[in-house]
Amino acid sequence: MQVSWDSLHQEIAACQKCGLCREIHHKVPGQGNPHARLMLIGEGPGADEDLQGLAFVGAAGQLLTKMLAAVRLTRDEVFICNVVKCRPPKNRTPLPEEAAACLPYLRAQFSLVRPKVILLLGSTAAKAVLGDHIRITKDRGTWVEKKGVWFMPTYHPAALLRDESKKRDAWHDFQAVQAKLKELEQ
Ligand code: URA
Repeated sequence: MQVSWDSLHQEIAACQKCGLCREIHHKVPGQGNPHARLMLIGEGPGADEDLQGLAFVGAAGQLLTKMLAAVRLTRDEVFICNVVKCRPPKNRTPLPEEAAACLPYLRAQFSLVRPKVILLLGSTAAKAVLGDHIRITKDRGTWVEKKGVWFMPTYHPAALLRDESKKRDAWHDFQAVQAKLKELEQ
């Protein structure tokens, strides 16, 4: 799918490919720098995101903003989106068929942004993009390179809010992302 941002946003707005769109307030396509070098992919919108139509604006999003700032990145420099663009009821994990229905939109976003580095926030994003074999506790912090694009799975910021002991590893991962962006500049 090679589309423009406008037509992609129109398609997402009109999408009824799965049942998730039935109970939402807003679609949440994602936002940020349309030419970002770093793209971050989460699972799906939560309650705050659903109300505002923006990705990662709730508690997990605020932590994400702080972690980005710690490696000298602003939200305006990166592109942030989710595997599914509609909030799953009660924040449940998207079903495989819901993720599959939404995946063409993620692919289109990838083709438009053309990032060099992709940070996969949590198991749903890591599995949707790299495959079902990914285990976040085992695979986080390791790079996967495909056609010159560097992918890294890491913990979802909501997991860090639930379990502070994961923050040390996540901090390590964000520093690795900062180093990779620097390395790719050269
Ligand atoms: N969690 C996600 O995975 N995405 C958001 O946009 C917010 C919370």
